[in-house]
Amino acid sequence: MVRMPTPQSVLGPTTTASLFLVLTVDTGGEPVVRELLADLAGLQRSVGFGHPDGKLSVVAGIGSAAWDRLVDGPRPAQLHPFPELRGARHHAPATPGDLLFHLRASRQDLCFALGAEIMTRLRGSVAVADEVSGFTYLDQRDLLGFVDGTENPTGPAAADAVLIGAEDQGFAGGSYVIVQKYLHDVDAWNQLTVEQQEQIIGRRKLSNIETDTPGSHVVLNTITGPDGEQRQILRDNMPFGSPGKGEFGTYFIGYARTPDVTEEMLRHMFLGDGPVSHDRILDFSTAVTGTLFFVPHADFLEGLADEAVALVEPAADN
Ligand code: HEM
Repeated sequence: MVRMPTPQSVLGPTTTASLFLVLTVDTGGEPVVRELLADLAGLQRSVGFGHPDGKLSVVAGIGSAAWDRLVDGPRPAQLHPFPELRGARHHAPATPGDLLFHLRASRQDLCFALGAEIMTRLRGSVAVADEVSGFTYLDQRDLLGFVDGTENPTGPAAADAVLIGAEDQGFAGGSYVIVQKYLHDVDAWNQLTVEQQEQIIGRRKLSNIETDTPGSHVVLNTITGPDGEQRQILRDNMPFGSPGKGEFGTYFIGYARTPDVTEEMLRHMFLGDGPVSHDRILDFSTAVTGTLFFVPHADFLEGLADEAVALVEPAADN
């Protein structure tokens, strides 16, 4: 049996603090980026080892346009730019991003410390497209006040939903990830009654029990394949915001074995499904970013340093 390469920590652990860094790579910055990606696991160990309860982890993703600049070899079968969606009412923009770093820990300072090490290495070779610090809010609620993450797959089902297998053998153990930053109009949301909010989400606000409301966020995002099996993604959304600025947001992050599943969910939300014109969560939440990345397995990242040598050496001979 062929051994599955070691994935990056896409399966978690889920924690209470996170940092999402989306970067673009400057022309000429590729060798520095390759070296950093190859050293990433070592940096994570250096920062995290002394704090075993901190559960520090990092996942790196590479965007479609950056892939050919950073990797001298085949492309993952389904790597493409994030498909912008324009519905009758709502828009999911596609925004720049060559690299994603998804840092998670039980303490914000550990995300900060590892983020700082990453940026120390990359400064001068990249530009920051977006940076968001996320936190767990109360009992796992989003800033609309609902418990978020309940129906995530766990255990073997999570691995099956997220990790590429035989369908793209050269990239087995990898994954695809889509991120979107949403800003909420909480004043308008709070004008609704709790019952109206529950119809939109499809769950009870206090008890978190499903309501099975047709057209709700939950129903629009429950999708099945031709075999009738539910097609799942693994989310680790995080609230973020600033009371001073009146900013309330959800950083959506969804890992999947094929981006097709997440994209189908997004089509339901923005373009509608049957009689439902759109997900009413969008009447109170605006997507301001949208980017798709491939997450190679951990050994692949470590091998990028050798690739840097291979690509750089011939030039040095001239
Ligand atoms: C379920 C919030 C965006 C996919 C849920 C639930 C909440 C929620 C409260 C119910 C509990 C749960 O199972 O997690 C939000 C908020 C969003 C957002 C506040 C941003 C404004 C998205 C996006 C996608 C998505 C962009 C996919 C592209 C799902 C899925 C479920 C879900 C798959 C579970 C459905 C099931 O019950 O099987 N979301 N969500 N969500 N959401 Fe979202």
